[in-house]
Amino acid sequence: MSNQPMPTVPEDHILGVYNRAPLAFDRGLGARLYTMDGDVYLDCMAGIATTGLGHAHPKMVRALKDQAEKLWHVSNAFRIPGQEALAKRLCEQTFADVVFFTNSGTESVECALKTARKFHWANGQPERIDIVGFEGAFHGRSYAAVNAAGNPAYVEGFGPALPGYISLPFGDMEALKTAIAAPTTAAVILEPVQGEGGARAVPEACLTGLRALCAEHGVLLIYDEIQCGLGRSGRLFAHEWAADAAPDIMCVAKALGDGFPVGACLATARAATGMTVGSHGSTYGGNPLAMAVGLAAFEELSRPETLAHVREISGYFTQQLHGLQERFPDIIVDIRGKGLLIGVKLAVNNRTFMALARDEHLLIAGGGDNCVRLLPSLLITHEEAREAIEKLERACEAARRTASS
Ligand SMILES: Cc1ncc(COP(=O)(O)O)c(C=O)c1O
Repeated sequence: MSNQPMPTVPEDHILGVYNRAPLAFDRGLGARLYTMDGDVYLDCMAGIATTGLGHAHPKMVRALKDQAEKLWHVSNAFRIPGQEALAKRLCEQTFADVVFFTNSGTESVECALKTARKFHWANGQPERIDIVGFEGAFHGRSYAAVNAAGNPAYVEGFGPALPGYISLPFGDMEALKTAIAAPTTAAVILEPVQGEGGARAVPEACLTGLRALCAEHGVLLIYDEIQCGLGRSGRLFAHEWAADAAPDIMCVAKALGDGFPVGACLATARAATGMTVGSHGSTYGGNPLAMAVGLAAFEELSRPETLAHVREISGYFTQQLHGLQERFPDIIVDIRGKGLLIGVKLAVNNRTFMALARDEHLLIAGGGDNCVRLLPSLLITHEEAREAIEKLERACEAARRTASS
């Protein structure tokens, strides 16, 4: 008999893998969330960069309702016109020639990694299996995704580390050059702007250099634009800020469904050569319901006006946040990120600060390196952005009071 105490059953019967804030929302509209009791919160988190067009956007609601009355699901055993329409739009606007639709970011990463290894296998280099990733990265929670990101906290206890994954320090160009030149390297995977790692942007010149280096050594370049893509950086995709930096494969998700589960793995025809009939699949991926919402969301996210708005509001946030940093150097250490993926590195504990912001009815996300992230809807208005800054200022004052008490 084991001496271990009987585990307690949680009251909510939910597997305890999340540290949840004591809030439950009933409805949302734009950048606002409403609790059952009618309390209103300003949402600068957007489901962690997911409801990119805000809550209950009328065009998304319409697209979902219209499709819901026609056809939800068939199977990838059939042609799905919505998939073809969205794939065409994605390929028109990017480097890509082909798209595989998924239900989540992790699944897009899974497809990307399989595509990369299969490319080399199909092209007579089966020894190229190594996936090179970076410290601070987040690519999702499947075995492949946690091994690619290499965060010990997400790998520990889940059995042996998978072979064929190499994690490098962020920004170590020498280590990167050596890894890319190795004859067993299949691909490099990175977020052009790290999200969970604390809104760390890879310098544009590094992306350009990395692209050239991968091409020189026959290594595929994979971008994870699940968080930083689809307009959040102020360009349709974050890597577009860098010259000549297009990838071979790219993962997207989150904002593509504006909260409905939609993801995609985009690739050039060349990179996808190994992915033949039967090599991959998904029951739900790209079903008619998901595609109707995805298509409607992509049209809005890719509008030049949306991207211009992101750049403008981002400029306002950055300027105001630097002002706050000057007034609260004991609280705010650094402002970073790109577009509306903004990281604020704190001198006080980031979880404590998030709770103080919540007291002001402002929702912000946490992040690595003791950051909080501002990830509002891309359509957040100037008035709402001003309100967010006022609330952050009050949270800074509260943090200062707490620190000195
Ligand atoms: C950069 C990045 N990659 C992958 C993922 C995983 O996406 P999902 O949770 O939809 O599987 C996330 C989610 O936060 C992410 O931010």
